[in-house]
Amino acid sequence: MTLPLVELHLHIEGTLEPELILELAARNNVRLPWGSLDELRAQYEFTDLQSFLNLYYRNLDVLRERIDFTDLTRAYLERARTAGVRHAEIFFDPQAHTSRGVPLLTALGGVRDALDAAVDSVGISTKLIVTFLRDRPAAEALQLLREILASPHRIDGIGLDSAEVGYPPELFTEVFDLARANGLRLVAHAGEEGPPEYVWQALDLLGVERIDHGIRSLEDEALLDRLVRDRVPLTVCPFSNVRLRVIDTLAGHPIMRMLDRGLLVCVNSDDPAYFGGYIDDNLTALDREFGLGPHRLALLARNGIEASFLTPAEKSTLD
Ligand code: HPA
Ligand code: ZN
Repeated sequence: MTLPLVELHLHIEGTLEPELILELAARNNVRLPWGSLDELRAQYEFTDLQSFLNLYYRNLDVLRERIDFTDLTRAYLERARTAGVRHAEIFFDPQAHTSRGVPLLTALGGVRDALDAAVDSVGISTKLIVTFLRDRPAAEALQLLREILASPHRIDGIGLDSAEVGYPPELFTEVFDLARANGLRLVAHAGEEGPPEYVWQALDLLGVERIDHGIRSLEDEALLDRLVRDRVPLTVCPFSNVRLRVIDTLAGHPIMRMLDRGLLVCVNSDDPAYFGGYIDDNLTALDREFGLGPHRLALLARNGIEASFLTPAEKSTLD
C-alpha cells in the first residue's frame, strides 16, 4: 500500500507464522504434536474465539529465549513495512509466557529489543501495549503491572484480551486505575463476542480511550450515539471477524454501515498469522468486496492516524 498506514490492533504473538513455529521448535528442542507444516496448517480452522485461542496459546510454547521474542517482533516489523505501516501500537500478552514459566523480563525484554531498533531498522515508530488476559484473575494482572512498572522496560499502555464472555471489564477497574495513575494509555477488547454492555463498562468503568473490535456496539443505538459523539475509535479487524465467525462472510461485514454511522473506525489485522493476512491484505479485500475506492481507503488510513496515541505533531508528519 502506498498509503501511510498505522496499525493499532495487532497481537505480536498472533504474528507467529507456521514456518517460524517450526524453526523455533527445532532451535529450542521443543516437541510439537505436528510433524510438518501441512499438519500444523490443518489446525487453522476456527469455530469461535476460544477455538482460536487454544491454538494461539499452544503454539507459543516454542518461544523460550529472549532472542525468540526479538525474532518474532522483527519478523512482524519487516512484514509491516512492506504493507506500508509507518507506526504500530503493538499488543503483547505477558501472561501467555509467564504462565508457562518464561520470566517476564525475558519475554518483555526480547520484544523491546526489536521495538527499540525499529525506527532505525525498518522506519516504523512503535508503542507497546501490554494486554492482560481477562480469563485470568485480575489480581494476577495487578501484580504483573506492578512488576512491569518497576522494570527497566518501557510500556505505553495496557489493554484487555482473551476469552471475553463471562469476564466483564468491571473486574479490572483496579488494574486500569493503577495504569492511569502511572500515565499509561488505556484500551480494551470489548464487543467482539461480548455484549454492548461490556463496551459501556470499558468506557465508563475502565476509562478506555479506544475499543478493540467493538463490532457488537451496532446492537445498541445509545452506545453508537456515545461512540460517535466522543469520537471513540473502534479498531476493527475484518479477517479476524470472519475467521472467528463473529460474522459469516466478508461480504456481510458491517464496515460500511459503521463508516456511514459516523464511527471512527480503522482497519487492523489482529492475528495475521492465523486469520489469512496482514493489514494491507485486509484493506485490499475490503476494497475488492465493497469498492471502497481511494477516498474511503484514505479515510480509513486517516482514522488510524487520528486514533493512534501519537502526538498531534507526530500525526501531522504521517498525513
Ligand atoms: N480477541 C481476544 N483475545 C485475543 C485476540 C482476539 O481477537 N487475539 C489474541 N488474543
Ligand atoms: Zn485482538
